[in-house]
Amino acid sequence: MYPTSPLRHLATSHQEQNLDNKLIMITGANAGIGKVAALELAKQGHHIVMVCRSQERGRAAQAEIKAASGSEQVDLLIADLSVQADIHQLAAEFKQRYDRLDVLVNNAGAIFDKRQKTADGLELTFALNHMGYFLLTDLLLDTLKASAPARIINVSSDAHRRGSLNFDDLQHEKSYSAFPVYSASKLANVLFTYELTRRLEGSGVTANALHPGFVNTNFGSTMSGIPAFFIGIISRLFATSPEKGAETIIYLAASPEVEGVTGNYFVEKKATRSAPESYDEAVAKRLWEVSEQLVR
Ligand SMILES: NC(=O)c1ccc[n+]([C@@H]2O[C@H](COP(=O)([O-])OP(=O)(O)OC[C@H]3O[C@@H](n4cnc5c(N)ncnc54)[C@H](OP(=O)(O)O)[C@@H]3O)[C@@H](O)[C@H]2O)c1
Repeated sequence: MYPTSPLRHLATSHQEQNLDNKLIMITGANAGIGKVAALELAKQGHHIVMVCRSQERGRAAQAEIKAASGSEQVDLLIADLSVQADIHQLAAEFKQRYDRLDVLVNNAGAIFDKRQKTADGLELTFALNHMGYFLLTDLLLDTLKASAPARIINVSSDAHRRGSLNFDDLQHEKSYSAFPVYSASKLANVLFTYELTRRLEGSGVTANALHPGFVNTNFGSTMSGIPAFFIGIISRLFATSPEKGAETIIYLAASPEVEGVTGNYFVEKKATRSAPESYDEAVAKRLWEVSEQLVR
């Protein structure tokens, strides 16, 4: 047995500690669980590409993450992920700057109390929470495949269990209520993940969805009135910390335990059964095809 080289003890920088240095893109990385995941993965020595919609909030979070992790490999790209032109621009800029992508974390999401229409004519919750994941993944798929083994992680929610997809009114023009619309978008995240898994078979790229738990973040700040008041109180009383909420993202992004593991819904780092409707392959295929048609 060789004695431990004294040089090994001198190798203290995060990059040197981590031989498996991944390039990880995280959307919604300036706040909540996305920010904690970015920080912890930077601490592990991974190269982080934060995607944020506000230059100001993005830069502030980037500076904080660099200082707290001691890593300079924390980059920032700006995009409003509810706007398809921004997503195209983001993917193009990413491909100009980087030649690989090991992990894509689709995390940016929100709930809205009033129906709003995006520049692409889509309902905002559907556009951000589902189409944002769908289009960004689609545009980066060639890079992910070329970087295999690679991982796609879609942050969903247990709210998907109360969701259902109405293909006759996917844009919620006939009726709109914040929680059902949000739940439907989170069901779409799970259906999209499973369909993606089927389409990625044999590519070396895995796809998994997750529920982060009920987490005390800025989530719900887009609501107003009585629902916002209750979300605030319930969060303060019962929700877990963003550090706890980010654990499953960090695990799926970097743990060797889940290398090659695909097509699962994770809660507290364990593969768990998702809602029965999420396993409906016909619904998943239809959602994929409709989403393709909605891409400009
Ligand atoms: N908190 C919970 O209890 C909970 C439970 C289940 C699932 N989730 C899911 O967890 C994910 C993260 O939520 P969170 O709790 O961390 O909430 P959060 O603190 O509100 O963070 C959301 C992040 O998404 C970004 N974002 C929102 N709209 C965007 C847009 N149009 N374009 C680009 N980025 C945008 C936000 O940026 P700004 O700072 O600029 O707004 C922020 O960085 C979401 O997908 C949510 O559905 C949360």
